[in-house]
Amino acid sequence: NQNDTAARIAHVFRGTFVHSTPRTALEILQDCVLGVDDEGKIAFIEKDQDVVSLSKMWGFKTSDIKQLGQYEFLMPGMVDTHIHASQYSYTGTALDLPLLEWLNTYTFPVEAKYKDLDFANDVYTKVVRRTLKNGSTTACYFATIHTDASLLLGELADKFGQRALVGKVCMDCNSAVPQYKESHSECKEETDRFIKELLKKKYLNVKPVVTPRFAPSCSSSLLSELGAIAYNNKLHIQSHISENKEEVELVKTLFPGCKSYTDVYLKHNLLTDRTVMAHGCHLTDEELEIFCETGSAISHCPNSNISICSGMLNVRNVLNHKVKLGLGTDVAGGYSPSMLDAIRRTLDTSKALTIQDPQHETLSFEEVFRLATLGGSEALSLDDQIGNFVVGKDFDALRVNVCVPDGPIDLFPGEGPKVILEKFLNLGDDRNITEVYVAGRQVVPFPDT
Ligand code: GUN
Ligand code: FE
Repeated sequence: NQNDTAARIAHVFRGTFVHSTPRTALEILQDCVLGVDDEGKIAFIEKDQDVVSLSKMWGFKTSDIKQLGQYEFLMPGMVDTHIHASQYSYTGTALDLPLLEWLNTYTFPVEAKYKDLDFANDVYTKVVRRTLKNGSTTACYFATIHTDASLLLGELADKFGQRALVGKVCMDCNSAVPQYKESHSECKEETDRFIKELLKKKYLNVKPVVTPRFAPSCSSSLLSELGAIAYNNKLHIQSHISENKEEVELVKTLFPGCKSYTDVYLKHNLLTDRTVMAHGCHLTDEELEIFCETGSAISHCPNSNISICSGMLNVRNVLNHKVKLGLGTDVAGGYSPSMLDAIRRTLDTSKALTIQDPQHETLSFEEVFRLATLGGSEALSLDDQIGNFVVGKDFDALRVNVCVPDGPIDLFPGEGPKVILEKFLNLGDDRNITEVYVAGRQVVPFPDT
């Protein structure tokens, strides 16, 4: 009797579950039961033929089973591998300038406002709630240079129950906004303080991530310092790379001793198997080989890449180079905080590449579904913990209903689970995401609504 040794069962779902595995982009599990223990881990996934003996074995009541309807399914929570929480206030605006001008004109003046903790509290509360409602069970956040506001973002992610990596941004060079940059020593001391104070909170699912903004914002000595801090504390690292061509040229002039943009990060020990770099639109095959060798990941941010005219990442080529890849919204360069949008823009970009070159092998919706879930968990090196439905992993999941009243999806006779998933990915929105779970805890609907 497993009940003697196993943890207590907290939830049991019965119905259709869809997820990805490393071998199969889309696996559809029909007529199954899935149990979650009281530590938030997946205890079992079985065919539902003998629910009575399962219930005896695991010690749950069959009357407690949550039965999914015909138009419902569970899927893994989505992983937003790159989002600027601090830019959420102007999401949906300010998309008329290329990257470097965009940063100095819109971004840095707004980010400077986060020394005001009331402003930070308002925006950070809204971005955590919005992304959770949209199905991002995990988010890898950039905050700002301000340690206290960055700690507040961690506190809010924990409070609302989102799994998060939170980065206090570091930048000691090349800001055209005088009130928005730090000295080299401030960067180091405040990064140390941020990491120490965030770890001291012992949040179960919120961790710090070392965050040099990008090479043009950082001195060589700062980059080295941050590489050492990440190494000594075994921390994640996030930054930006090769987003637009002007930036790539700028990095060449700023770091003349380095062979490539990738070489800049490599030389400063910032490419590890816990590194995620946003964009990478203009990386060469040689640079992708370095990503593969170091185990570093790319966050593909297609909405942003198109919205501020940065470039189009060839995801197929990245995957062919065996580089880990997840999707990111890149709010506010990307105008949507929804990972469903990131899925759609990923498909659009792949199709635009096929229009340019008919030899290009277009991504399928199943592959992109995997990138938004399991791929994201791999990119953040969390795939031993989340990303799909495997016994022992944390239960991070969305309950999806494609048939909500006045919802965005119409169904027609004979449509099976694969078509239903495809319609959700292309047409669905937060109205269809009726419940969200992170580590077994139900976090949507919010307790206060
Ligand atoms: N590169 C450096 N900083 C940023 C940022 O805030 N957004 C984007 N899209 N690219 C960047
Ligand atoms: Fe970004």
